[in-house]
Amino acid sequence: AARAKAKGQRPGVLWFTGLSGAGKSTIANLVEKKLHAMGRHTYLLDGDNIRHGLNKDLGFTEADRIENIRRVGEVAKLMTDAGLIVITAFISPFKAERELVRKMLPEGEFVEVFIDTPLEVAEARDPKGLYRRARAGQIAHFTGISSPYEPPERPEIRVDTTALSPERAAEHIVVGLRALGLRVAVDDFGCGFSSLGSLNRLPFDRIKIDRAFVRELTPSTSQDCIARIIIKLAKSLGLDVIAEGVEDQQTLDKLIELGCDSVQGFYLARPMSADQTLRWLRDRERQRREPGYDPKFATAQIV
Ligand code: ADX
Repeated sequence: AARAKAKGQRPGVLWFTGLSGAGKSTIANLVEKKLHAMGRHTYLLDGDNIRHGLNKDLGFTEADRIENIRRVGEVAKLMTDAGLIVITAFISPFKAERELVRKMLPEGEFVEVFIDTPLEVAEARDPKGLYRRARAGQIAHFTGISSPYEPPERPEIRVDTTALSPERAAEHIVVGLRALGLRVAVDDFGCGFSSLGSLNRLPFDRIKIDRAFVRELTPSTSQDCIARIIIKLAKSLGLDVIAEGVEDQQTLDKLIELGCDSVQGFYLARPMSADQTLRWLRDRERQRREPGYDPKFATAQIV
C-alpha cells in the first residue's frame, strides 16, 4: 500500500480474457497508453511475450494453460504489491483459473475485462493464420476449435469488438474503470474525519471541499482564503477539486476563477433520480452543441 501511495494510485489487475484474435493485445496496449497519459503506473503482461520467457516451458494442454494462468496471476499479484496497475492479455479460457486469480488479490483489485468477439469473427480475422492451421488439424488444443473457451458470466467490464473500434473499446474500458472507482475522492475535506492527515493515508484522486468553505465566497472572508488554499493544495498534489454546496452564480464564478475542476449544488441541480439524471445529461449534451453555448460553463465540469 505504501508503494502504491508513493505512486499516487490504487493498484489493481485488469484481467483481459477472450479468444485468440479477439483483440486483447491491441486493446490492452491502447488502454495502457491512456492510463499512462493519466499519470498511472502500469505494466502489461501479454500471452505472446510471457510464453517466450517465464512460461516457455508451457504448451496448450489443459494442465499447461492452468499453470500459465497461475504463474501470470502470481506475477500480477507481486506487481500490484509494488503499486502497479497490471494489465494482462491472455486467453485464460477457464473460469476456475480466472476465479483463482481473483481470490489471490484483495477485494476489488481484480477487474475482469471480457474482450467479447464471437468465434466466427475472430476466425474471419485470423491475424496470425492460426485458425486456418487449427482447422487443418495442424494445431492441437486450439481454443474455440478443439479446446473450450468459457466466457465470463459477470465480468466487471465487457467490450463488444464487433460494435467498437479498438480505440473506442479502450475508451470504454477506461470509463468503466472510473466507474469502478479508479478515482477516489476525500469527502467533506477540511471537516470532521477528512483532515489533512487523510491525504497522507490514501491515494486520493480528488478532494471535495466541504460546503462550509463554499457558502460565503466573498473576497477576503476566511472562507474565501480557505477555499483558495485547499484548491492550491489539491493542485500541487496533482488532485482534482470539487466544491459542494454551490447555491448562486457569484459562488460558481468565484470557484471557476479559483481553478475548481467540478462543482455541485442546488444552484445547478436538485438531487435527481437515475431517470431524471439521464434526461438531464441528454439535454445538456444537446445544449453543448447549440451555437450560443457559453464555454465558460465548460471550464468547470458541472456534476
Ligand atoms: S492461454 O490459453 O494459456 O491463456 P495464451 O494467451 O497464453 O493462452 O496464449 C495464446 C496465444 O498463443 C494465441 O494468441 C496464439 O497466438 C498462440 N497459440 C498457439 N497455440 C495455441 C492454441 N493451441 N490455442 C490457443 N492459442 C495458441
